[in-house]
Amino acid sequence: MKKTTSDMGPNRTGIAMSPIDSADIFQAAQKRAPTSPGDGSLLLEVRKQYALESGGVGHVPPPANLKGVAKTAVELLKGAKPTVFLDKLGERLAFERSGSRLYEGALAKLDVHGSWEDGPTQEGLERILNDELSHFALLSESLTKLGADPTAVTPCADLVGVMSMGLPAVLADPRTNLRQSLEALLVAELTDNASWELLIELARGLGHDTLADRFQLALDAESEHLVLVRGWLASGITLEARAASPEELGAPA
Ligand SMILES: [Fe+2]
Repeated sequence: MKKTTSDMGPNRTGIAMSPIDSADIFQAAQKRAPTSPGDGSLLLEVRKQYALESGGVGHVPPPANLKGVAKTAVELLKGAKPTVFLDKLGERLAFERSGSRLYEGALAKLDVHGSWEDGPTQEGLERILNDELSHFALLSESLTKLGADPTAVTPCADLVGVMSMGLPAVLADPRTNLRQSLEALLVAELTDNASWELLIELARGLGHDTLADRFQLALDAESEHLVLVRGWLASGITLEARAASPEELGAPA
């Protein structure tokens, strides 16, 4: 029988799997003192020390060309801090680039596992993939126009890369199916929506209205992505929860 994501089967992670062994473990833990002195609070103290000594997560690089230097200088004179905007643009660029790779991964899962009723289609996934790519290109162009180097990893880009490390890992894992991959896509789309909103607000505040208008179009596309991914995921979960026989009902494998 075709396996779905939630079929019952071997799983030894829970303590209830072996009451005799778990009783032994409890007894052994109570008898022996910890092998190292101290407790978790010492770890926090060490982290605080490292934090005091750390130089932070990098810097925003200086503008890549003279035109950029002039523009940046003007912004500074106006009392704005353009590096904040460049940092957030770099972050969005990094996330959109990895977003397009997530959809490449989802297309591969679709090839292997197929879809389900009201689930993702090849055209739907490809459309979102192309949107993410065009958003990446928009950000690259915006950074270049502002005199910045779009290939530079800004501190916020670094941070968002660390935060979202699990998403490509879910897609690259050969054990995950399309439905499970959609859980990762949902996290990415929620982040996309919230982050574009913030970037638009920032752009308007700094007087970059033309950019803000273009970013609004990106946000409109992201809202559609979110509706699609949520719908695909909901239909997959609902179908699986109701299916008596996965083959019969075409539940996601
Ligand atoms: Fe998106």
